[in-house]
Amino acid sequence: MPKHIARLLLLLALFFAAALAAKWYFTADSFYQFGHYRGQSVTEIAAQEPVYQTGRYCETCHEERHAQWSANNHKSVSCEICHGAAQGHPENGKLPIPADTRKLCTLCHERMPGRPATQPQVDLAQHSSGQQCIVCHNPHAPKLAGVVAKVAGDAAAGARTHAARCASCHGKDGISPNDTWPNLAGQHAAYLVGILAAYKSGAQTDVMMSPVAQTLNDAEIQNLATYYAGLRCEAAPRKARVGDAVAGKALSQNCAACHGDAGIGSNPAWPNIAGQAPEYLVNALKAFRAGLRKDPMMGGVVRGLSDTDIANLAAYFAAQKCEPVAKGKGTP
Ligand code: HEC
Ligand code: HEC
Ligand code: HEC
Ligand code: HEC
Ligand code: HEC
Ligand code: HEC
Repeated sequence: MPKHIARLLLLLALFFAAALAAKWYFTADSFYQFGHYRGQSVTEIAAQEPVYQTGRYCETCHEERHAQWSANNHKSVSCEICHGAAQGHPENGKLPIPADTRKLCTLCHERMPGRPATQPQVDLAQHSSGQQCIVCHNPHAPKLAGVVAKVAGDAAAGARTHAARCASCHGKDGISPNDTWPNLAGQHAAYLVGILAAYKSGAQTDVMMSPVAQTLNDAEIQNLATYYAGLRCEAAPRKARVGDAVAGKALSQNCAACHGDAGIGSNPAWPNIAGQAPEYLVNALKAFRAGLRKDPMMGGVVRGLSDTDIANLAAYFAAQKCEPVAKGKGTP
C-alpha cells in the first residue's frame, strides 16, 4: 500500500476516534433516556437548583430593601441585575455588593448618541464630579428630586403665633441665639414644611423639636414655614473656631449638586446651609454619620467624611452669605 494511502487511513481512524470520544464526553447521561429531543426531561431540569430568583424570593429575608426598591424607580431593575445570580444564596454564601457603581450604573445611564431615553441618562463629565453614584443616589430608591411639599401658608398668621413658641430657641427673627441650634430665616419654605411634618410624625426626632412639632397642626406648620422663609437672614457670617474654610471649599464640590456652590440650593425640598452656625453644621453632619438623623441621601454623603473634613466643611458653609429665598412672599 502506498504510504500516502496509509496516512490517509490513519487520519480517518483518528478522526472517528475523536468523534466518538467527543460524543461520549459531551452527551448528557440522560440523553437516550428521554429520547432524541429530551422532551420528557422536565422533571430532571426541575430538580436542579435554580440559578436566578425573583424579587419575591429576596423579600422573605430582606424585607426592608425590598419594600424600598418596590416603591421606587428601580422596581423594573431586578435585584439580581445588580447583585448577581442568587445561586443558592444564602446557603452558598453572601451575594456581592457592587463595588464600582460608576461602572454598574453607567451600563444603563450614560448618555450616548442613539440611546433611547426610557432609561434617564446623564452626562458623566458634568454629573457626579468623579464620585461613586451611591454617594448621592440610594440604589434601591434612586430618584432624588424628592417630594416638594406644597406651601400655601399665611405669613402674618405665622408671625402672630411664632414669637411665643419658637423665638426662645430660634430667635425672634429666625436667627438662633444658640450656636448649636439652627437658623430658620430665609430657609426654603418647602423644606421647613417637610421637616416640621417629619418631626410631627416621628420620622425625624429631636428631644427639643419633637414635642414642639407635635403641638402644631398642618395649617400652623404652613403658616410658620411661610413666615420664616420670608425673613431676611442677615446673621453676620460666622467664623469657625476650628476648621479650615479653604479646605472646606474644596470638599464642598461634593455638596454642590444639592446645596449649591455656596450653600444655597435650587431644590426647595432640600435645605440651604449657608450661614448656619458652624457648631450646628458639625452636629448635624455627625448626626447623619452616626445614623441618629436619618436621610437616605445625606447618609451616603457623610459616610466617608472624617471629623476634620466635617469641621472644614462647616467652616466653609458657615462663612457663606445667607440670602432669603422667598423675598417675603413665602413662595419656595
Ligand atoms: C433565606 C433568607 C435570604 C434570602 C431569600 C435572600 N437573602 Fe440575602 N442575605 C441573607 C443573609 C442571612 C445574609 C447575610 C447577612 C450578613 O451576614 O450580614 C444575606 C446577605 C445578602 C447580601 C450581602 C449583604 C452584606 O452585608 O454583605 C446581599 C447583597 C443580599 N443578601 C442580597 C440578596 C438578594 C438580591 C436576594 C434575592 C435574590 C437575597 N439576598 C435573598 C438571607 C437571605
Ligand atoms: C440598581 C442596582 C441595585 C438593585 C436593583 C438592587 N440593589 Fe441592593 N445594593 C446595590 C448597591 C450599589 C448596594 C450597596 C449600597 C451601599 O453600600 O449603600 C446594595 C446593597 C444591598 C444590600 C446590603 C446592604 C448593607 O448595607 O449591608 C442588600 C441586602 C441588598 N442590596 C439587597 C437588595 C435586594 C433584596 C434587592 C431587590 C429587592 C436589591 N438589593 C436591588 C445595588 C442594587
Ligand atoms: C439595568 C439598567 C439599570 C441599572 C444598572 C441602573 N438603573 Fe437606574 N434606572 C433604570 C431605569 C429603567 C429607570 C427608570 C425607571 C422608571 O422610572 O420607569 C431608572 C431610574 C433611575 C433614576 C431616576 C431617574 C428619574 O429621575 O426618573 C436614577 C436617579 C437612577 N436610575 C440612578 C441609578 C443608579 C445610581 C444606579 C447604580 C446604583 C442605577 N440607576 C443603575 C435602569 C437602570
Ligand atoms: C454629588 C451627588 C451626585 C452624584 C455623585 C451622582 N448624582 Fe445623579 N443626580 C444628582 C442630583 C442632585 C440629581 C437630580 C438633578 C435634578 O433633579 O435636576 C441627579 C439625577 C440623576 C439622574 C436622573 C436624571 C434625569 O434626567 O432625570 C440619573 C439617571 C442619575 N442622576 C444617575 C447618576 C449616576 C449613574 C451616577 C454615577 C455615575 C450619579 N447619578 C452620581 C446628584 C448626584
Ligand atoms: C426648646 C427649643 C426649641 C423650640 C422652642 C423650638 N425649636 Fe425648632 N429646633 C430646636 C433644635 C435644638 C433643633 C435642631 C434639632 C436637630 O439638631 O436635629 C430645631 C430644629 C428645627 C427645625 C429644622 C431646621 C433645619 O434647618 O433642619 C425647624 C424647621 C424648627 N426647629 C422649627 C421650629 C418652630 C417652627 C418652632 C416653634 C413652633 C420651634 N422650632 C421651636 C429647638 C427648638
Ligand atoms: C444628593 C443630595 C445631597 C448632597 C450631595 C448633600 N446633601 Fe446635605 N442634605 C440633603 C438633604 C435632602 C437634606 C435634608 C435631610 C433631612 O430632611 O433631614 C440635607 C441636609 C443637610 C444638612 C442639615 C441642614 C439643616 O438645616 O439641618 C447639612 C448640614 C448638610 N446637608 C450638609 C451637607 C454637606 C456638607 C454636603 C457635602 C459634603 C451635603 N450636605 C451633600 C441632600 C444632600
